Amino acid sequence: MSTAKIILGEKEYELPVVVGTENEVGIHTTKFRGQSGAITLDPGFGSTGSCESGITFINGEEGILRYRGYAIDELAEKASFPEVCYLLIYGELPNKAQLEKFSDDLTRHSLIHEDMKKFYEGFPANAHPMAILSSMVCSLSTYYPETGEPGEDDLNIIRLLAKAKTIAAFAYKKSIGQPFIYPKNDLSYSANFLNMMFAVPAEPYTVDPIFESTLNKLLILHADHEQNCSTSAVRLVGSSHANIFASMTSGICALWGPLHGGANQAVIEMLTMIHNDGGDYKKYVKKAQDKSDDFKLMGFGHRVYKNFDPRARILKAAAGEILEKMGVNDPLLDVARQLEEVALNDDYFVQRKLYPNVDFYSGIIYRAMGIPTEMFTVMFALGRLPGWISHWREMRNDPSMRIGRPRQIYTGPQGRTFVPVESR
Ligand code: CMC
Repeated sequence: MSTAKIILGEKEYELPVVVGTENEVGIHTTKFRGQSGAITLDPGFGSTGSCESGITFINGEEGILRYRGYAIDELAEKASFPEVCYLLIYGELPNKAQLEKFSDDLTRHSLIHEDMKKFYEGFPANAHPMAILSSMVCSLSTYYPETGEPGEDDLNIIRLLAKAKTIAAFAYKKSIGQPFIYPKNDLSYSANFLNMMFAVPAEPYTVDPIFESTLNKLLILHADHEQNCSTSAVRLVGSSHANIFASMTSGICALWGPLHGGANQAVIEMLTMIHNDGGDYKKYVKKAQDKSDDFKLMGFGHRVYKNFDPRARILKAAAGEILEKMGVNDPLLDVARQLEEVALNDDYFVQRKLYPNVDFYSGIIYRAMGIPTEMFTVMFALGRLPGWISHWREMRNDPSMRIGRPRQIYTGPQGRTFVPVESR
C-alpha cells in the first residue's frame, strides 16, 4: 500500500501513503490542495497527523505507551527523571558519564536570576501558580535572548528544565507568604523541588524518600504523550521560530485547561464535591450521562486511549501503595475507586470506551504528599517539559518542517458592499 486515491467530482487524485515503524498508516495530503483546490477538514484533528515523530509511540486501542521504544512501566519503575529527560530529548539513554554531566548541569542551573524574584512581588497572593509559571518561563527569554551561538539550544534546554522547578516552588511559597528556599546542589531533581516547596528556614527538613521516589515516578509518567493539545501548541508556536522559552510558555498555557492537564485539579474538586454531597457517586455517574447537564466525569475519557490509559493503571496501584505506606486514609481515594468501578460497568462508559486517564489518580497522590490542589497542573507541567522540549527540538532540526498554518472552510457572508453608518 504505497498510495491512496481520493475521487473528487470527476477527478481522481493519487496521494502518497506513509507507514511508521509501528505500522501506523497516514495519507500524505500536503500536495492535495495544490492539485485539487480542496482541503481536508478535520476539526479537533481526530484523523490528522501534523508531523512524523520518533519520540513517543501510543497504541490507544491496546493501551501501549513507549518513549523512544521503552515501555512506560519499565521507565517508571527503573529510571530517574533526568535520565528520561535525556532519553526523550536526545533519543538514547545516557551512559553513566552523560547522565552524571546532565544531572550535574540540571543542578547547577537551578537558580533563577535574583532580579526575577521581584516579579513575584507583583503577583497577587492568590494568583494561580500556572499563571505565574507561564509568565516566569516566558520572562526567561528576557535574561537569555537568542544569539544563535553554537550550543545555545542545549544550554537553554538545561536552563528550562533546571529553573522551572525553582520557579514552581517559589510560586507556592509566594502563595503561602513564606520565604523562598533556594535550590541545594546535593539533592536529586525531585528532592530539590520538594525541599524548595516544604523546607522553612526556621527548622531542619529532610525530604521523605517515599515522596522523592513517588515524585520521580509521577514526573516520568507525565514526561511525553506525543501530539496532545499542549505539545501541538508548542510545535505550532515553535514553527514560527519563536524562541524556546516563548514556545514552552504556549505549552504551559494549553496544559492549564481542565480538558487537558487542568483535569487533575478538576478531579480532586469533583471528588471533594461528591464526598461533601454524601458520597453518592452513582448519582454523579448518571449526571455525567445527561446531555442537558454540563457535568463530566473529570479524569475519564481520552482522545487516543480506547482502553485503559497505562499511566492510570500505574498510578492507581501507586496511590493505594503510597497512602498505605504513609498511613494516610483519604476518603477521596474510596470515592475514586467506587466511581471508577461503577463507571467501568456502566453501558454509557463501556460503549464509548471511557476509562480513567492519567489525571484520575495523580491528584490523590499529590494530596497525600501535601501538594495543594492549585499546584497539581504545575506538577504536570514540570513533568511534561522534557516532552515539549523534545518535540520543539525535533521540529526545529527537521529541514522539511514548515510554519504551521492550517486552512479553513469559510462559512461567513459572501462579498458585500460597505454601507456608510448614516444609511444603516
Ligand atoms: N464524562 C462523560 N462523558 C464523556 C466524558 C466524560 N469524562 N468524556 C467523553 N464523554 C463522552 C462525550 O460526551 C461523547 O459522547 P457522545 O458520543 O454521546 O457525544 C463521547 O464520550 C466521546 O467524547 P468526545 O468528547 O468526543 O471525546 P474527545 O476525544 O473529543 O475528548 C476528552 C477527550 C479527554 C477531552 C474528554 O474525554 C473529556 O472531556 N474528559 C474529561 C476531562 C479529562 O479528564 N481530561 C484529561 C485528559 S487525559 C490527560 C491530558 O490530556 O492532559
